Amino acid sequence: MKGGHLQIVVCGAGPAFDVTDLVRTAQERSWTVAITATPSAMDFIEPQRLETLTGHSVRSTYQSSPGTRRSLPATDALVIAPATYNSINKIALGLADNYAMTSVAELIGRQVPTVIVPFVNAALAARAPFRHALASLRDEGVRVLLGPDDQWEPHPPGSGNERQRAFPWVVAFETAAQLAHESRPATSGHT
Ligand SMILES: Cc1cc2nc3c(=O)[nH]c(=O)nc-3n(C[C@H](O)[C@H](O)[C@H](O)COP(=O)(O)O)c2cc1C
Repeated sequence: MKGGHLQIVVCGAGPAFDVTDLVRTAQERSWTVAITATPSAMDFIEPQRLETLTGHSVRSTYQSSPGTRRSLPATDALVIAPATYNSINKIALGLADNYAMTSVAELIGRQVPTVIVPFVNAALAARAPFRHALASLRDEGVRVLLGPDDQWEPHPPGSGNERQRAFPWVVAFETAAQLAHESRPATSGHT
């Protein structure tokens, strides 16, 4: 699939700083991109740099900047990355306690192709609520990139800084683009 609109939701974990890699990957393939950040993620990113790169303000609150539409734009795919332990558990439960979580709840409900890329350590990943959350999201049709088949595993506690460099931004985009392609009606006229 060539082109489309990608919505990225960034959570509060180290790889958030490198979300520019995902933006550039998408733009190189003729996709437009907009970024929403959880309130915690705002401490991990450079919003001004991302706004310059995407041409859209980074949304984190319900308050939109002048001239910005309030409703969600037509979205071909959603990537939630890096996805924290906290946000993954909330998304699975359907919690909508900030703008990012509300957007995610609605986009998944609209059946927008969605990819979640967790960034969690092995201690958090071993918790029963997290395992249930992954199973629930997968059951709902969300693609969660985690496990041996995805070659992306929880890291040992305390090793997040080293693991950050291996964050699979390109795989995240390619998976989302493939899902978008598969979900697009054959008669839509897109190439
Ligand atoms: C420096 C720092 C690094 C963090 N790294 C992670 C992480 O890699 N994974 C994670 O799940 N939480 C991480 N956290 C904790 C989350 O930021 C915290 O759970 C926060 O509530 C997440 O909010 P959000 O899910 O709304 O973005 C980190 C926190 C700090 C301060």
